[in-house]
Amino acid sequence: MRASTATVLLVGLLAPFALAAPTVEKVLAPGGYRANTNLHEIPAGGSLAHVGTDIHIIAANGTVVQKVTAGTPTKVKAAVSPLETGWVAYASWLNTGSSAISSFTTSWKVPPVPTANHGQTVFLFNSIEPNSGTAILQPVLQYGPSAAGGGAFWAVASWYLDSSNTFFTTPVRTTAGTTLNGIITLTSSSGSSFNYNTQFTGISGTSLSITGAAQLTWATETLEAYGVTTISDYPAGSTVFSGINLKLASGAVPSVSWSHVNDAADGLTTTINTNGATNAQVTITY
Ligand SMILES: *[C@@H]1O[C@H](CO)[C@@H](O)[C@H](O)[C@H]1NC(C)=O
Repeated sequence: MRASTATVLLVGLLAPFALAAPTVEKVLAPGGYRANTNLHEIPAGGSLAHVGTDIHIIAANGTVVQKVTAGTPTKVKAAVSPLETGWVAYASWLNTGSSAISSFTTSWKVPPVPTANHGQTVFLFNSIEPNSGTAILQPVLQYGPSAAGGGAFWAVASWYLDSSNTFFTTPVRTTAGTTLNGIITLTSSSGSSFNYNTQFTGISGTSLSITGAAQLTWATETLEAYGVTTISDYPAGSTVFSGINLKLASGAVPSVSWSHVNDAADGLTTTINTNGATNAQVTITY
């Protein structure tokens, strides 16, 4: 059931504005097009903290450099439109157990750059969201433009989105063939307040910590794309998400069965090669 929720996700945010409303310029983030007024690049070494109804952006030295109003609880994920943009192929698992996910790791290789460039954007990531689907924390590989920058090359950044704010680390360029390790870690928790970090292991500038978040329960391995006009706007071949490991705060390894979503009509498939929470493997074929 949770997977089908994804199909309705950013619908509210994508709804056309009333004619009388001022024009709000939109920019692209993992999760779809968003107002460009709530974009927040996190200073190097900085972090985020949920404090009451605000989110604080904290500099590396501990100074709060900006306080923004957290989004109201509406869904953040992109709808899969008839044009097959948004989350076009993904695998997911929802933790319904009583122990929180304490770590979620995934390795994949940066694909070749697409042979065609029509200004498309391709995002590849593992991600985690609360039950409500109202936020997302994700280490993201990106080709093409987004709110964080980018262009006709691969780059990595960590993102945290709620329904109105888009936070990201400064993108770091990377190249085809590089092995990425995207990790999401529960650093501590107290009651219903959860503290997380995400980063690409060994790539400095990609670490993003957030405190006071909701428990993050829905784990995904995702291909998301915008502005794709032909299959060669995607990289050739396939992306193998491997070394997928999930652990719980209890110390146990959860019993995991991955659901998957394809865009077979456009030639994109998601295959669960190895199920479970220990060295699981998911392949997205373009
Ligand atoms: C802390 O870092 C911020 C952002 O770089 C800077 O504006 C501020 O002056 C620094 N404060 C101290 C006490 O170093």
